[in-house]
Amino acid sequence: MEKFTSVNKAVFPVAGLGTRFLPATKAQPKEMLPVVDKPLIQYAVEEAYAAGIRHMIFVTGRNKRAIEDHFDTAYELENELEVAGKHELLNIVRSMQPADMSFSFVRQPRSLGLGHAVLCAEHMVGHEPFAVLLADDLMAGPPGGQSVLTQMAEQFKTLQQSVLAVQEVPLEQTRRYGIVAGQKTSGRLMKVSAMVEKPAPEVAPSRMAVAGRYILTPTVFKHIRSQQPGVGGELQLTDGIASLMLEESVYAFEYQGKRYDCGSKEGFLEATVELALQHPEVGAQFKTYLKNLKLD
Ligand code: UTP
Repeated sequence: MEKFTSVNKAVFPVAGLGTRFLPATKAQPKEMLPVVDKPLIQYAVEEAYAAGIRHMIFVTGRNKRAIEDHFDTAYELENELEVAGKHELLNIVRSMQPADMSFSFVRQPRSLGLGHAVLCAEHMVGHEPFAVLLADDLMAGPPGGQSVLTQMAEQFKTLQQSVLAVQEVPLEQTRRYGIVAGQKTSGRLMKVSAMVEKPAPEVAPSRMAVAGRYILTPTVFKHIRSQQPGVGGELQLTDGIASLMLEESVYAFEYQGKRYDCGSKEGFLEATVELALQHPEVGAQFKTYLKNLKLD
């Protein structure tokens, strides 16, 4: 088996249309919606950086320019803040681009599915393992613990095979997620033998739902390419991974932490409330506000 050292590249597919958030996403990317004071995409990039990844690859589309600008130098803003002596704010703006982090952007010309989006990044990933982060899943590590991707990268170091983040969901929610089934190999790890996209509860093979974090070996590219496009010409990442399982082992890892499904309004609101409560600047005040709120 080929020995990979570590995961150095992350792919952020951000070319979806974000229709569940219309009209907010008519002219701005869903990934730029802020939870308290940070856009979703920044939470995901910070998580990848914490896991030791330094090369961030964005698969973008039309209306996504704001993401490129967000991670670029904001010369005028920085100059204004400097002149005004607002050093704290200046540090916040500058801290988003550590000197050892690099960004690449590739366009997905049409929304042809998550699998297709990942294929668009193939020439930048090359023959290396890579992470895929869906920024609309905001992942919070356990209090004081490691980020979800860091936990996965540690698993990858030993396994040297693809790792999918999973979490148990209530049976009535299987329809919303990719669901995996397989053989438990240790406490939090399962060797996956089946993967189904959004099954009805009656036919779901388990309640283990895939969250938007993956570490994949480069073998996955040819398996995505070999899939027949589905409805609307879409290529699904799930189908590519299911095919990869015929050649290599794929593991599901039950991470520690919490996923907020910020692609849905409910999940977005939950994230906003819970992260606001933890926020060093507004948390205490917001807690008092919530306590005094009459809910009936
Ligand atoms: P979703 O289906 O959840 O996102 O795709 P969406 O299409 O943007 O949103 P809705 O359902 O219309 O509200 C999951 C992730 O895959 C990316 C999306 O940007 C999102 O991060 N994606 C999806 C692509 O990059 N390209 C695609 O063709 C499809």
